[in-house]
Amino acid sequence: MTYRLRIEPSGHEMDVEADETILEAALRHGFSIPYSCRNGTCGTCKGRLVHGEVDYGDPDEKVLTAQEMASGWALFCQAIPVSDVTIEVQEIGAAKGIQIKTLPCRIARMEDLAPDVRALFLKIPATEKLPFLPGQYIDILLRDGGRRGFSLANLPNDEGLLELHVKRVPGGRFTTQVFGTLKEKDILRFEGPLGTFFLREDSPRPILMAATGTGFSPIRSMLQRLFSLGDGRPVHFYWGVRHARDFYCEETLREWESVHSGFHVTRVVSQPDSGWHGEQGYITDKILRDFPEPSNFDVYICGHPEMVFSLSGELKNAGLSGDHIFSDAFVFAKS
Ligand SMILES: Cc1cc2nc3c(=O)[nH]c(=O)nc-3n(C[C@H](O)[C@H](O)[C@H](O)COP(=O)(O)OP(=O)(O)OC[C@H]3O[C@@H](n4cnc5c(N)ncnc54)[C@H](O)[C@@H]3O)c2cc1C
Ligand code: FES
Repeated sequence: MTYRLRIEPSGHEMDVEADETILEAALRHGFSIPYSCRNGTCGTCKGRLVHGEVDYGDPDEKVLTAQEMASGWALFCQAIPVSDVTIEVQEIGAAKGIQIKTLPCRIARMEDLAPDVRALFLKIPATEKLPFLPGQYIDILLRDGGRRGFSLANLPNDEGLLELHVKRVPGGRFTTQVFGTLKEKDILRFEGPLGTFFLREDSPRPILMAATGTGFSPIRSMLQRLFSLGDGRPVHFYWGVRHARDFYCEETLREWESVHSGFHVTRVVSQPDSGWHGEQGYITDKILRDFPEPSNFDVYICGHPEMVFSLSGELKNAGLSGDHIFSDAFVFAKS
């Protein structure tokens, strides 16, 4: 049984297959709507159901409450139409036409960036191209059917190399392999590029960026793009880690700071040892102290879910519209 999906205000209409989510149908037809985790945990895809009935799927109660469901909200990565439906959501033009592919790749190289962070350089087949927007991620497809998201840290390039920054998670199913058994020349499979966390290039607004840990990965891709465009907008980047040894790519950041006068990096350590003389605490607090009136910024936030949710909420409280907050929360996979 297929149903019709209509997106307002664009007026685009499309078929939805049986058991297909609203997000899957929109992407299959080449229309992009805001999304990140695709597993009902981050809330990026939350939108209004204007007309029709859906099966709400498996949303996390913290991101979609029963009260919100009753008043017409749904997570489009979870909601499966059981009638013709109309939804209200702002489509994202820049991601249109970027094809999501499932491809094999070979581990070309691995490099330790910090004691618990390893870069994986993945090579896609020479016959393939993978255009993506700076900030997007891929899902590594595990042999047991699970999948793990990893942001792309570099820009699309002619060699077909994808760079990932992987943080070791003790006991984690995939990252234990990355720091253990996986080796160069091994083959992985992935799906991508995914997500709508990417640089809004045509905005004139100054930029505030915030990352914890390997949340720096997509920020690095965005910064490379900004600097290659010669975009002169001021950029304030806040990077929070637990210990000072968790910072990496320091040389690149210092070089960018010296070459681009509008680029400023603030490093914040939450559990400093005696050798750290810089900022201490959490980046959320530091950003709110430094920018009590953030309403004219575009803000990009990435990394630990708690930081992403709390900083987004605080910035909205301080007067910044949600339309100018872009984020990828590194939420844990459900399987
Ligand atoms: C859109 C997106 C982009 C992402 N990009 C990156 C990236 O660029 N780099 C990166 O390192 N990770 C990234 N992640 C997180 C990544 O997908 C995995 O969740 C993470 O690597 C753990 O996978 P695992 O299989 O090793 O652990 P799992 O087997 O999934 O986890 C085992 C247990 O460890 C705990 N756990 C899982 N992850 C964490 C964590 N981060 N911190 C503390 N405890 C945890 C959970 O309780 C979980 O039950 C991203 C996630 C998303 C959704
Ligand atoms: S909750 Fe739907 S994309 Fe994350």
